[in-house]
Amino acid sequence: MLFNLFKKNKDEGDHKEEAYLTLRIRETVRETPDTLTVYFEQPEPFLDYKPGQFLTLILELNGKQERRSYSLSTSPFVDPFPGITVKRLEGGLVSNHINDQFFPGKRVTVMKPLGNFVSDYHSQNRRLYGMIAGGSGITPIMGIIKTILINEPLSTVHLLYCSRSQDSIIFNEAIEALQKSNPGRLQVSHQLSQPTDGWEGPCGRLDKGRVVGYFKNLLKESGLESRFFICGPEGMMRSSQDALIELGVPREAIRTESFYLDKVEKNTDEETQDLLSRSITVELEGSEHVVDVLPGKTILEAGLEEGLDMPYSCQSGLCTACRGRLIAGKVTMDEDAGLSEKEIAEGFILCCSSKPADSEVKVRIE
Ligand SMILES: Cc1cc2nc3c(=O)[nH]c(=O)nc-3n(C[C@H](O)[C@H](O)[C@H](O)COP(=O)(O)OP(=O)(O)OC[C@H]3O[C@@H](n4cnc5c(N)ncnc54)[C@H](O)[C@@H]3O)c2cc1C
Ligand code: FES
Repeated sequence: MLFNLFKKNKDEGDHKEEAYLTLRIRETVRETPDTLTVYFEQPEPFLDYKPGQFLTLILELNGKQERRSYSLSTSPFVDPFPGITVKRLEGGLVSNHINDQFFPGKRVTVMKPLGNFVSDYHSQNRRLYGMIAGGSGITPIMGIIKTILINEPLSTVHLLYCSRSQDSIIFNEAIEALQKSNPGRLQVSHQLSQPTDGWEGPCGRLDKGRVVGYFKNLLKESGLESRFFICGPEGMMRSSQDALIELGVPREAIRTESFYLDKVEKNTDEETQDLLSRSITVELEGSEHVVDVLPGKTILEAGLEEGLDMPYSCQSGLCTACRGRLIAGKVTMDEDAGLSEKEIAEGFILCCSSKPADSEVKVRIE
């Protein structure tokens, strides 16, 4: 499968933007006992990404292709080399492989950067930025903070960051260095859920009350336009959003990035299921393919089973790698967390979470 990806890019020549890249690892840096930053050499041309976007790594492990998304923890405005920061997940296949087996010189296939956890930055902006991070959720936020500090001299950043214990604070020293080099412009409040002896700061999980308490006066006193970025465990993200809405922050000023959603049990009641197979059309790289989608299957599953090289990564509606535009027909989309409201209004769907509701469906993978 990987071989096919490389071959296709080569045969297509320069006229088509390549969906896949090969990056060479330049350096690895251990951030905490269970977290590693992997810096890549710049490809030719340089990697084009926005702060907060992610790469999808495509690896072959145990004879099977595995795809996982990892946020770029670097800023294209500051860091000469793009990097991702990966935290081990207990029993996790890819996160442990990266932590144990990624060394300088190794080549890795990735999909080009994607993601909506982004913003506009301008030297005249005078904003209050609120960052709420939990654990590895600091990774995209780190790139965003660096970008704001260098591009928006009139803006300030307030980071509320929850980690497990003192030695699991990712980027602890780098954050301190940013505070020192940008006096008064980056305020940081750490919170630890399981601190070891000697910790005198806030403890416990980051809940709604803590978010309200931290941002209430800041928002009232600054009078500035605000932007919020939230990334971390599902519960923390939900309560942070609720807190901000309660404080009167407009929804469109809040950006969120989910790394993982707990799967909700699907309703298997036969009466609620569509029992019909649908023949739909998938347009991929300019060619149309008729794909039979069996009951209960998603458009992505059906396309992959037919041998189409459709792009994907998380397969749970978060990363948008499988994004397509619905040209005709109707679909039901179980999860659209990764799409912005604008993308939904423009007719984009996530093929990994969409099932055809009629046989008129035509999806163009863009
Ligand atoms: C847009 C996006 C950006 C991401 N950025 C980063 C990043 O910057 N750094 C980083 O470390 N990770 C990031 N992730 C998570 C990453 O893609 C993987 O999900 C993670 O590394 C686990 O993969 P694995 O192969 O080790 O675990 P798997 O072998 O896939 O999973 C092992 C078990 O853990 C469960 N699980 C999977 N992921 C999680 C999770 N995050 N939390 C709790 N349980 C989980 C699974 O259901 C399974 O039971 C991101 C995910 C997305 C969608
Ligand atoms: S594959 Fe990630 S949203 Fe569909």
